Amino acid sequence: MPVVYRPAREDELERAEQLVVQSINDLTQRHGFGKMASLRPAHFQQFSLRDDPEGLWIAEDNGEILGFAFSWVCGDLWFLAELFVAPGQQGRGIGNELLARTLAHAGKNKAAHKALITFAFNTVSQGLYIQHGLLPRLPLSFFKVPRDALQARLQKSQIRHASLEATDLQRLSDIDAHALGISREKHHRYLMSDAGMKGFLLRSGDERIGYVYVNPDGHIGPLAVTRPDAMGQAFQAALKLAAEQGAAQVTAFIPGTSDAALKAAVDHGMRITFPMLLMSSNDFGDWNCYLPRNPGFM
Ligand SMILES: CC(C)(COP(=O)(O)OP(=O)(O)OC[C@H]1O[C@@H](n2cnc3c(N)ncnc32)[C@H](O)[C@@H]1OP(=O)(O)O)[C@@H](O)C(=O)NCCC(=O)NCCS
Repeated sequence: MPVVYRPAREDELERAEQLVVQSINDLTQRHGFGKMASLRPAHFQQFSLRDDPEGLWIAEDNGEILGFAFSWVCGDLWFLAELFVAPGQQGRGIGNELLARTLAHAGKNKAAHKALITFAFNTVSQGLYIQHGLLPRLPLSFFKVPRDALQARLQKSQIRHASLEATDLQRLSDIDAHALGISREKHHRYLMSDAGMKGFLLRSGDERIGYVYVNPDGHIGPLAVTRPDAMGQAFQAALKLAAEQGAAQVTAFIPGTSDAALKAAVDHGMRITFPMLLMSSNDFGDWNCYLPRNPGFM
């Protein structure tokens, strides 16, 4: 039977995420990095499907999911959150077909910017995206440190924090508009609705310098600041907040141009685990002011 390409349905998103995890771990193990992904509930995919069903696509053969693509749009930015083909099915054009359908989603929304984050060691994905006009722009790295090792290095921070409230949405949108050129209000609503996630506004004296989210696994992000010279202090405050979550490790995802965050990460004993790459149709965002949450949420 020929492969069928069709919009995804909510009741199959968990199954699609199983394929994503399988495809990621196959890739990272083949490249000597060990397993990177573990299966989690498909909450962001479900939220995005309800918000805008035209961004999620399935490749299927006789009831079996062979590939999955998922893109979201905020303002004039189209972002490819996931594009994965099952390990035994790669290299036969399925990725190309799925990408064409998600790119139509960008076209319909008249997106001025198209972007994604992929694995710096995957020549296939990079080759595919370059063919579609998305070029390598920015290296990013996942960093990790054991919580105990981090706590031994944490210093007193001048930054104060307050838990995010629904009334902060406009302020968060303003910070993102400055850092990324778009409002991500719907994504803040999504993060705030996640019971495990903790969001904070950060202050230095009387000035609100940014925001950060940390989760129960000790992961930092997204984090955004109003000016590049606030990044170092904000990231140090985030490390402390993440350590307080009690997980065995603290992790973050840092753009290669963010010298203040990179220096703070290394000074606090963090190690690089996975090298990643942002590819886009043109330059956007101030990557000295924003740390993405992960390659899908951005
Ligand atoms: C990346 C991925 C989605 C692509 O899907 P796929 O079905 O394997 O890809 P396709 O067969 O449609 O196309 C691959 C293209 O890459 C090109 N390509 C392969 N190796 C390449 C290389 N070394 N340099 C440049 N281009 C290359 C191929 O020529 C092909 O294009 P063509 O058909 O026009 O010749 C899939 O391989 C996958 O799931 N990989 C693992 C997970 C991953 O990295 N996902 C991307 C996350 S952002």
